[in-house]
Amino acid sequence: MDHFQLKNGVLHAEDVSLPTIAEAVGTPVYVYSRATLVRHARVFREALANLADPHLAFAVKANPNLAVLKVLQQEGFGADVVSGGELTRALAAGMVPGDVVFSGVGKTHAELVQGLETGIGQFNIESEEEGYELAAIARRMGKVAACALRVNPDVDARTHEKISTGKRENKFGVPLDRAAAIYAALAGEDGLEMRGPAVHIGSQLGELEPLETAFAKVGALIADLRAEGLGVTHADLGGGLGVPYKAGEFMPSPAEYGAMVARVTKAWDVRLTFEPGRVIAGNAGVLLTRVIRSKRSGNGPPFVIVDAAMNDLARPAIYGAWHDIEAVAPSGEKATAHIVGPICETGDTFAMDRETDALVAGDLAVFRTAGAYGATMASSYNSRGFVPEVLVDGDRFAVVAERIPADAIMDAEQVPDWL
Ligand code: LLP
Repeated sequence: MDHFQLKNGVLHAEDVSLPTIAEAVGTPVYVYSRATLVRHARVFREALANLADPHLAFAVKANPNLAVLKVLQQEGFGADVVSGGELTRALAAGMVPGDVVFSGVGKTHAELVQGLETGIGQFNIESEEEGYELAAIARRMGKVAACALRVNPDVDARTHEKISTGKRENKFGVPLDRAAAIYAALAGEDGLEMRGPAVHIGSQLGELEPLETAFAKVGALIADLRAEGLGVTHADLGGGLGVPYKAGEFMPSPAEYGAMVARVTKAWDVRLTFEPGRVIAGNAGVLLTRVIRSKRSGNGPPFVIVDAAMNDLARPAIYGAWHDIEAVAPSGEKATAHIVGPICETGDTFAMDRETDALVAGDLAVFRTAGAYGATMASSYNSRGFVPEVLVDGDRFAVVAERIPADAIMDAEQVPDWL
């Protein structure tokens, strides 16, 4: 459930009408709902109520805006970060260092140092090589790094191939059949405290079965490790739960996910970490845009050209992703159109042959489910600036990220005097 609803025929974020935001901030603009973030955070936590003391670490990559992170910090979430930049953000938002997990296949030396210096709770090691490097740094700093070993369970998550991470051929984790040996080797290193396995098989998962298969393999690994006398106190089950992008689309609920996890992990006797991203933030945001004009195209449906583009919301261009498109003040009339942005690429297409609310020049419209992997994947392609972000809370709203205009980006460039 989200808090973007029609009131008196006009789409609102909570109690703020979207035209009010468009007028105050301009378009395109991302609009987030605090109440929706809070609701999703609580539903997810509630779904895990049968587990002893689960650790919830929001996947910062889904939405790294400081205000969004602050809302989740207030809900008791820690953070799953994949870069020094994300770590800095999580801490700036007030997250407790001990509640931060550092994932990522290519943590640099500097990032490993940063993680140790700031006292993060856990490094998710993705290779034996990374483990030895971290151990050496930790010894030099006189610290002990708490670690999970990310395993690659070779399970097909049955999601888009670009966001599948748990197949043997993917770059993530260590192969399951080598995991026990690598774990044992790293457990013997001074400077590391190996706490258990980590797994994450992909994102936007529409079925629980691949997750259950992966978790069962992790359970078998835990038993093997213990049989060899190795300590296992934690396990990190990653994120990945899908959200509905189309009205009426069915996705496993957090409650079903939680019940499956409780069943599969019953005998593990570990503290579990979860790294949800999309399921928390996805439906808590929309991208608000204005129609520039419509243009006829041969005999086909018209092109409706909006002021948002693939640089602002990249998911349709990269993954062919579907985002529902709705008029902010729907007339009740429907029409079929190609919805496109102004960028000079055919890929800058949000929808082809889409039946939506009829849209004419000047109308406001939203792309739904843009709260995760939306603003954070923006670029300045075609010398377009970065769009602003707004957080709504009841009847008030605040700009939580300023628009960065194209000329501000240009200001960071210089032409050498030898040209
Ligand atoms: N943990 C790890 C280690 C991850 O790699 C990810 C996502 C998550 C947690 C969070 O997954 P979620 O709960 O959000 O599914 N840009 C793509 C999504 C990429 C996801 C990458 N990893 C998109 O727009 O669909």
